[in-house]
Amino acid sequence: INLGKLKDRFRYVAQSCKEIMDRYKEKEDGLYFLTTANGLVYQTFCDMTTDGGGWTLVASVHENNLYGKCSVGDRWSSQQGNNADVPDGEGNWANRNTFGSAESATSDDFKNPGYYDIEADDMSVWHVPNNSPLENWRIAAILRYHTDNHFLRLYEGNLNQLFQQYPVKFNVGSCSERGPAFPIVYDHGDKESTKELYGTYSRAEFVPGFITFRPINNERAAMAVCSGVKPATGCNTETYCIGGGGYFPEHSGQCGDFTAFDWDRIAGTQGWSASRDVIGAAALLFYR
Ligand code: G3P
Ligand code: CA
Ligand code: CA
Repeated sequence: INLGKLKDRFRYVAQSCKEIMDRYKEKEDGLYFLTTANGLVYQTFCDMTTDGGGWTLVASVHENNLYGKCSVGDRWSSQQGNNADVPDGEGNWANRNTFGSAESATSDDFKNPGYYDIEADDMSVWHVPNNSPLENWRIAAILRYHTDNHFLRLYEGNLNQLFQQYPVKFNVGSCSERGPAFPIVYDHGDKESTKELYGTYSRAEFVPGFITFRPINNERAAMAVCSGVKPATGCNTETYCIGGGGYFPEHSGQCGDFTAFDWDRIAGTQGWSASRDVIGAAALLFYR
């Protein structure tokens, strides 16, 4: 980025990457400043390319240590251990806490004010290998997709509102009451490659081609997002859905940002264990 472009970007006033694109005719992927309704200024990555562009990066879910179960770094589940006394864990899926930075979104968890401030229509998700530099995210991603049915309008435009309606909290419902699922449009990858990201046993439980919110497992533990899949015939959602509340009754080893992706001890895609590829990639969440 040259100095002239950077000066332009300092002058923009917009609440989302879509507004930057529409108002200032910006077409380049990169870091931009956004402003919340209350006037808070923050910086994030804009995808100005996919399906016409205008996508705002609002969060990333990163697994720093799959052996640490609801330990430090599990900001999207709980940093306080597998604990029935904190049934919604950190609560970060449904609050205004923020953490991390856009440039380190593949190296640590990230959540910016856009997560709760932007009123969006759709979501896009990129699974980007850990520690990839921002300029390589798009080409490095193992999976990229977006929705196009404006489902976020049903939830006042963002995940903060969606998860008020569908709390990510232990014992709020049973597996049959799992949250909403929406079809996705693939930008990189397909239904077959999505299946291969998860364990062979898990594949028998879900159907690919969807994004699902707030699934509930056999033991009434709640997760936040099933990326690329919809649970269909089973309730071992802890093996293929990320984020969660602070309590997983089946086993203390199911609590964490990537839940029980290593159920069969990071054994490739044997049994219930997810692939090394998806375990080693951060899930980047965008709005438009
Ligand atoms: O979450 C997976 C776990 O419930 C599987 O149990 O007895 O089939 O290894 P099991
Ligand atoms: Ca984490
Ligand atoms: Ca299970």
